[in-house]
Amino acid sequence: MKFRTRLVLTLTAATAVTVTSAFGAASFVVERSEERQLDEALRAEAHLEAGELAAQHGALHVTARAGPAADDIGRLMKFAVIYADDGRVIDITSTFATGAPSYASVSHPPGNAFDFWYGADHLRGVFVAIPEHEHEMLLLAAPRSDLEKDNAFLRQVMLVAALLSIGFTLLVTWRVVRQLTRGHEAIAAAARKVADGDLAARVALGSGDDEVVQLARDVDEMVRRLEIVVEGQQRFIAHAAHELRSPLTSLYGELQLALRKSRSAEEYRTSIEEALDSARRLKALAEDLLALARIGAEREPSRTPVALAEVAKAAAAWVSREATLRHVELAIQSDGSQVLGHAIDLERLFRNLIDNAVRHSPEGGQVTVEARSDGDRVHISVLDEGPGVAPEERDRVFDPFFRAASERRRDDGSGLGLSIVREIARVHGGEVSVEQGPEGKGARFSASFPAAPPG
Ligand SMILES: Nc1ncnc2c1ncn2[C@@H]1O[C@H](COP(=O)(O)OP(=O)(O)OP(=O)(O)O)[C@@H](O)[C@H]1O
Ligand SMILES: [Mg+2]
Repeated sequence: MKFRTRLVLTLTAATAVTVTSAFGAASFVVERSEERQLDEALRAEAHLEAGELAAQHGALHVTARAGPAADDIGRLMKFAVIYADDGRVIDITSTFATGAPSYASVSHPPGNAFDFWYGADHLRGVFVAIPEHEHEMLLLAAPRSDLEKDNAFLRQVMLVAALLSIGFTLLVTWRVVRQLTRGHEAIAAAARKVADGDLAARVALGSGDDEVVQLARDVDEMVRRLEIVVEGQQRFIAHAAHELRSPLTSLYGELQLALRKSRSAEEYRTSIEEALDSARRLKALAEDLLALARIGAEREPSRTPVALAEVAKAAAAWVSREATLRHVELAIQSDGSQVLGHAIDLERLFRNLIDNAVRHSPEGGQVTVEARSDGDRVHISVLDEGPGVAPEERDRVFDPFFRAASERRRDDGSGLGLSIVREIARVHGGEVSVEQGPEGKGARFSASFPAAPPG
């Protein structure tokens, strides 16, 4: 059953129970009070009648007095019988058309009102003693029909009122609940669409309760981010497949070419070297992809203190061959800052940055690596004297597989280096960025991390 239906039914049932019990209690109280009025009127009238009878001389005769009058009901038809104590009827009103009821069937203690049936008439009567006539009793009765008609009418009115109020409650709660659950239903519908794979689905709730509108906004934001992540992953897979295909194709082509006819040992050697080169690129790419996947999945770095000067030196050693070839001078300046983290990953971070810096440096240029602490944070930077990164590319250089147009012709390098740098920085609580070097020269890649606590 839908939540909305259940809520409406529950509220309506609660109203129905409340209204019916309130009306039931009211009707019971009214009926009892009318019956009490009738009883009092009956008793008062019976005593008056008995008083008048006592004043009679000779045989007793029912008087010509009218019937009792209950306040709300008016004068009632009078039914009266004078019984002798042996049950004989001494006198009777003509309203008892078929004779008096037998004394045994109606006998009750004097003063106690009681109900009895006379033919089709439902009567309420009371016995009273007749003063100075100890062997005679007066039964005075009146029909209950007026009282019952009133009560039946009251019950009908209450039933109609109860049905109307239940119907009204149903209508109002339905409208209110629909209004209240509109937002939830829109969120549920959007969630269902997202679950079916439609990441473009949005709740887009314009109005409603603040909490629900906020929830709808949060859900939309969550789906928007999910869409970006999924699109990013799809792009990543497409790029990765593409990058893997090029060295694989050349490897395949080189091996096929080598086998086509018999060749000299020298030619075989050249072919194998070219195939090896492709295999090396494949290996490097697979390693970078693995590193990116592993670091991307990490939530917390290890808590070991790492001296940044050490890892920067180890990284520079990896790149020193290329630096020497290009006559690029490498300078490392550090104040002994330490961060908590993973030494191998931090070394990879420096290696990727220094490798880029050296590769983009002009012949004879200088690459400066710095690590300094300002108390609770450690700032690192790698500065070169190359062409720098164009402002419009400064965000995109960190995207996987991004390479500036001038770089795309280069065979080695896949464009994963800076993505790995960004992930390592993130895992260590930092963010990496690039800006222009001093005096508008070169590029400066920098990041800052929380410093390792001293000691
Ligand atoms: N120091 C730099 N100076 C100028 N441009 C740079 C510098 N470092 C990176 N870039 C630009 O950013 C792009 C991405 O760099 P990244 O390190 O991710 O990839 P790559 O160096 O091309 O390949 P890989 O690092 O995977 O071998 C580079 O292709 C280059 O265009
Ligand atoms: Mg690189």
